[in-house]
Amino acid sequence: MSALLAGRCGLVLGVSSKESVAFQAARQLQALGAEVAVSLRPRRHALAPELTELSLWPVELDARDEGSVAAAIDSVGRHFGRLDFLVHTLVHVPEGALQRPVTELGAAELADAMEVGVRSLLVCAKHALPWLERSPSPRIVTLLSGGADFAMPSYHLIGIVKAALASAVRYLAAELGPRGILCNAVNFSMLETDAARRVIGAERTAQTRQHLAKRALTRAPLDYDDVTRAIAFLVSPLCSNLTGEALQVDGGFSKSYF
Ligand SMILES: NC(=O)c1ccc[n+]([C@@H]2O[C@H](COP(=O)([O-])OP(=O)(O)OC[C@H]3O[C@@H](n4cnc5c(N)ncnc54)[C@H](OP(=O)(O)O)[C@@H]3O)[C@@H](O)[C@H]2O)c1
Repeated sequence: MSALLAGRCGLVLGVSSKESVAFQAARQLQALGAEVAVSLRPRRHALAPELTELSLWPVELDARDEGSVAAAIDSVGRHFGRLDFLVHTLVHVPEGALQRPVTELGAAELADAMEVGVRSLLVCAKHALPWLERSPSPRIVTLLSGGADFAMPSYHLIGIVKAALASAVRYLAAELGPRGILCNAVNFSMLETDAARRVIGAERTAQTRQHLAKRALTRAPLDYDDVTRAIAFLVSPLCSNLTGEALQVDGGFSKSYF
C-alpha cells in the first residue's frame, strides 16, 4: 500500500491540531508516499515548526482573505511545480450559533459560515487550477457530514453549509471534469476531534459515537484511518472517471433502517 501515492504532491487545507482531520489525512497521504503541504490559520502559527519537522510543509491562509489564499496556494504550487491534489476541510462555526434555534440564525453568522465552509472550496479551486492542470491526474476532495442529509441535534447551521458544499462539489465536478480534474467528497459520521468536542460538547460527542457504532452495519465506531484512507483513494490515480460523488464512510449507519 505504501506506493499508492508515490510521486504525488498536494495541499491539505485546515490543520488546527494533531487531532484535526486535516492533520490525520496529511499524515496518511504522506505514509502512502505523497509529499504534502498543509494550511493553517495565522492564529495556529505555533504549530508550524512541528509540522515542518514532520515534513508537512506549512502555509498560512485565512479563507476570508482571498489574497492570502492565492499567495499560499501559489507558494505551494511553485514549491512542488504542480498540484496532484487539493484536500479541503475548512469549516467555521460561529460562537454560540448551534446553541440557538435555527430560526434565530443571524445573517452575518450564515454568511460567515458559508464563506468559509463553501465558497472557500471554489476560491481554493480557482487558485489551484493552474497547478492542478500540470498534474497527470488532478483531484479535489472535500468533507461532508450526515448533518447535510439528516437533521441532527446541535448541528443546523453546519448541516445547511454541508448541504450547500455537497452541491458545490457537483458543480465544480461539472466545470472541471472536461479539464480532467475530478472533484469528490467523503461524507463521514463522527470522529472525536478537538473541534467536535468543542462544538457539540465532549459528552454528546461520546454518546453520539456510541449510538452510531451501535446502529452501524459493522457495529464498529469510525476511526481516523477509515476516513483518511477514503480520502487517499479519492486523491489517487486509482480513482478514475469518478466525480461529483460523495463516498459515505459511516460503517453503513446511513443504510441501516433499524
Ligand atoms: N469531526 C467530525 O466528526 C466530522 C464529521 C463529519 C465531517 N467533518 C468535517 O471534517 C472537517 C474537519 O473537521 P475537524 O473536526 O478536523 O475540524 P477542525 O479542526 O475545526 O477543521 C476545520 C478547519 O477549518 C479552519 N478554518 C476555520 N475558519 C477558517 C478561516 N477563516 N480560514 C482558514 N481556515 C479556517 C480551522 O482553523 P482553526 O481551528 O485554526 O480556526 C480548522 O483548521 C470539517 O469540514 C468538518 O465539518 C467532521
